[in-house]
Amino acid sequence: MQPAIAVRALEKTYAEGAAGVPALRGVDLDGHPGELVMLMGPSGSGKTTLLSIMGCILSPTSGHVQIAGQEVGKLSEKQLPAIRLEHIGFVFQGFNLFPTLTAGENVELENVELMLDLKGVRGEKAKNRSRDLLERVGLADKYTTFPSDLSGGQKQRVAIARALAGDPQIILADEPTAALDSQTGQIVMEMMARLAHERDRAVVIVTHDSRVLSFADRIVRIEDGLIAKKRPESEVSPELLVHSAAQAGGILIA
Ligand SMILES: Nc1ncnc2c1ncn2[C@@H]1O[C@H](COP(=O)(O)OP(=O)(O)O)[C@@H](O)[C@H]1O
Ligand SMILES: [Mg+2]
Repeated sequence: MQPAIAVRALEKTYAEGAAGVPALRGVDLDGHPGELVMLMGPSGSGKTTLLSIMGCILSPTSGHVQIAGQEVGKLSEKQLPAIRLEHIGFVFQGFNLFPTLTAGENVELENVELMLDLKGVRGEKAKNRSRDLLERVGLADKYTTFPSDLSGGQKQRVAIARALAGDPQIILADEPTAALDSQTGQIVMEMMARLAHERDRAVVIVTHDSRVLSFADRIVRIEDGLIAKKRPESEVSPELLVHSAAQAGGILIA
């Protein structure tokens, strides 16, 4: 099966100081429809850099990014937003919601941007779509609520609703459970797993959080800007291979 997203020989050096900071040193990674990949690694290993390049938010120094069979690695940073809007749902670390907009407006903004850019429509349609998305993450009643009045888990669900605005084939999330308690983290991961398994999305999640590893179809480790060699099967505990039957709390992604 063709991957929804593939990166090859990805290198990224941040221009800082004379030598620069090498954050990625030749990374290959695929994301397939229907698969939830967890990307793990110590702080500073390049996880956010890799996810940002996969999400068309950042350009690599060299290497290839293919999305839906299309080479995007060589596009300029100005050309990236259109690709991102069409193909990628990105859940940023720390929610990244606009504090002065309500939950509904936060989701709507992405919808308006999307529809303006791609379809030339706005207004009521974007609003209805936002309502629908909030309903899907179990927050139908929070449309007019501001982020400051939402719990961490609710904010994360708004962030996920926003990422789903363009009905993207690829969903990327940077440490989506880091700020959440264990039970809320399980609910959020359950949603992400359903997107992969029931909606056939390619999902890549950066995490530090060993509590959520049971949701992974595949675990990829990154160290010092390189994908670490696969550990022998015997080192992977059996419970990591079994999907957790966490409570979804009545939240439906369908
Ligand atoms: N904007 C930036 N400018 C300079 N260096 C950066 C920037 N972003 C990240 N880095 C450096 O790149 C390396 C990888 O960072 P990052 O991708 O954020 O890692 P992780 O998400 O795994 O913690 C680190 O050494 C970090 O200090
Ligand atoms: Mg990071």
